[in-house]
Amino acid sequence: MRFDVITLFPELFAPFLSHGINRRAFESGLVDVRLWQLRDFAEGNYRRVDDRPFGGGPGMVMLADPLYRCWQAIRAERNEAEPAPTVLFSPLGQRLAHPVVTGFASGQGAILVCGRYEGIDQRFIDACVDAQLSLGDFVLSGGEIPAMALLDAVARLQPGVLNDAGSHQQDSFNPALDGLLDCPHYTRPEVWHGPQGEVAVPEVLLSGNHARIEAYRRQQRLHTTAQWRPDVLQQVRAAGGLTRQDEAALRAAGA
Ligand SMILES: C[S@@+](CC[C@H](N)C(=O)[O-])C[C@H]1O[C@@H](n2cnc3c(N)ncnc32)[C@H](O)[C@@H]1O
Repeated sequence: MRFDVITLFPELFAPFLSHGINRRAFESGLVDVRLWQLRDFAEGNYRRVDDRPFGGGPGMVMLADPLYRCWQAIRAERNEAEPAPTVLFSPLGQRLAHPVVTGFASGQGAILVCGRYEGIDQRFIDACVDAQLSLGDFVLSGGEIPAMALLDAVARLQPGVLNDAGSHQQDSFNPALDGLLDCPHYTRPEVWHGPQGEVAVPEVLLSGNHARIEAYRRQQRLHTTAQWRPDVLQQVRAAGGLTRQDEAALRAAGA
């Protein structure tokens, strides 16, 4: 799959693309990321990419023309019979969530547009953008961090990228597992000397009894989800994902 990123700050992506476990996906081309410097598509000595907003007000607005020229160049290079979607990162977009990520993880890729300043001339959005995605209900200075968030989440779902193939199957929100949040994790030492004294790892995790460990982890996923994201628990329940034992365990825990 191929992602073309339109940005004024391509250099922000360099450390992201060349570090960590996802580097494998990017460097092997499994997730082929191409960065496009928007300024290269601007005209004039100053290579202007923004201007004052019509109607007045603070800040600057990204010009439609350089964006359109860049987008056309990408479209021409991709040369797809069925063009990949163009995605703009914006606070007004659909929230970036697991189902959105899995959709991209099994798709052909996308053209990702990273906004800056007050935003983008609406006429470019109306003409060229297919979907808008938000990282959450807050305002960032640019779309580069949301773009990296999407690329990271997509890359780790690609086969062979994580060291342990089963790793992402166990992650939170995976409907192929149970859609619940992940359970708590523990590692050495068995007894940790923390600020409140000695804290031991739950005994069951040292038992070597896989059935007991699995049952314990399921219970922990239920409790964690009930505590932190009752909305997610409700979705799993509505989809028929909770057994009678699950409901009993939740009642017993007062959830
Ligand atoms: C300073 S913001 C513009 C905010 C815009 N004036 C507003 O109030 O909604 C500049 C760019 O950052 C990106 N951005 C900011 N917050 C974001 C969020 N929560 N999710 C996705 N992209 C965001 C968008 O690409 C946006 O065009």
